[in-house]
Amino acid sequence: MKQLAPSILSADFSKLGESVSLIEEGGAHLIHVDVMDGHFVPNISFGAAVMKSLLGKTSMPFDVHLMIENPDKYLEEFVTDNTEYITVHEEACVHLHRTVQHIKSMGVKAGVAVNPATSLDTLDYIMEDVDMILIMSVNPGFGGQKFIPSALRKVKELDALRKERGLDFKIQIDGGITLDNVKEVMDAGVDIAVAGSAVFKAEDVPARVKEFLVKFGE
Ligand code: DX5
Ligand code: ZN
Repeated sequence: MKQLAPSILSADFSKLGESVSLIEEGGAHLIHVDVMDGHFVPNISFGAAVMKSLLGKTSMPFDVHLMIENPDKYLEEFVTDNTEYITVHEEACVHLHRTVQHIKSMGVKAGVAVNPATSLDTLDYIMEDVDMILIMSVNPGFGGQKFIPSALRKVKELDALRKERGLDFKIQIDGGITLDNVKEVMDAGVDIAVAGSAVFKAEDVPARVKEFLVKFGE
């Protein structure tokens, strides 16, 4: 099943609970939680406390995207009853295999993200261990950026590799996803689309979520 994971980075932080209810009303599948530390990426967003303030306010699972250095140090903080995925960046992990095993040992699905300029070759020996691979289609750090076209080729190559190796990890795409390009990336092999500004800057958020889901054709 294709899924939509709206990123709360583009939501109004002064009424986060309400924003989450709106995407839930529209039928979104996951809440994408963008954590930025001001070191790995040139921006600071929020930490686990903000994410945990949503516990009990939604039944949607959390999809945590850690754009931080030394993620191992903070993994436990993001494990909650709602946490489905924790994704770390390949570029931020010296011992990526260990980090992936650490995430899985806490009963959470493990994702690995790659920046636009990072080759899929870097995932060659970890692919069989992960639940999800996140293809960044913008340089991480900010919402509202433009989709980088080479990400589409990367998705196609990853989907081909997945088939060739008989693996079943999910492919996620994040950055610059809009109603205009979401169908093309889903058709290329993406299972989970992240969308921040395209969802939360809409006049009618639940209606926008529904428009995305229609594009999935499911
Ligand atoms: C970028 C974040 C994205 C971002 C997406 O660093 O990882 O999740 O919020 O925002 P849009 O959809 O506006 O590009
Ligand atoms: Zn993200």
